[in-house]
Amino acid sequence: MKFIPLMTSLALGIISTNLYAGDVEAGKKLSEKYICASCHGPDLKHPIAPNYPKIAGQHEDYLYYALKSYKVDNHSQVGRGNAIMGGQAKQLTLAEMKDLAAYVASLPGDLVVKK
Ligand code: HEC
Repeated sequence: MKFIPLMTSLALGIISTNLYAGDVEAGKKLSEKYICASCHGPDLKHPIAPNYPKIAGQHEDYLYYALKSYKVDNHSQVGRGNAIMGGQAKQLTLAEMKDLAAYVASLPGDLVVKK
């Protein structure tokens, strides 16, 4: 049956994508490359305008999910439509979003209570 190998490789693909852990150092380089600080502030917690969010120290899974939502845009019920962040997120791969999320979450911030 051709069906079983196909389903197995699809399942493994999905699992390996989800198991990839974000790399803080790679995320730092991406943050510099895409100049996230130009809007979110040099430490990513003093944004340039009140309607621009603080992101430093936010939960990693929240950050990853938010970035993915901007990439999805308004095309589904889980997407976030935003011209500014949509433009940023659309150029990122899922692995890059994981790296960025790991880096941003590692920064000191006042958004979440660290255990
Ligand atoms: C040109 C300005 C600009 C740049 C550059 C920018 N952002 Fe944003 N970002 C915004 C704005 C504005 C919002 C709020 C959008 C909204 O209202 O949904 C936002 C929202 C976010 C959010 C959602 C925060 C939350 O609390 O839900 C995350 C995460 C984020 N940005 C990460 C990044 C990362 C990582 C980079 C660099 C790759 C980046 N941003 C670059 C302007 C920017």
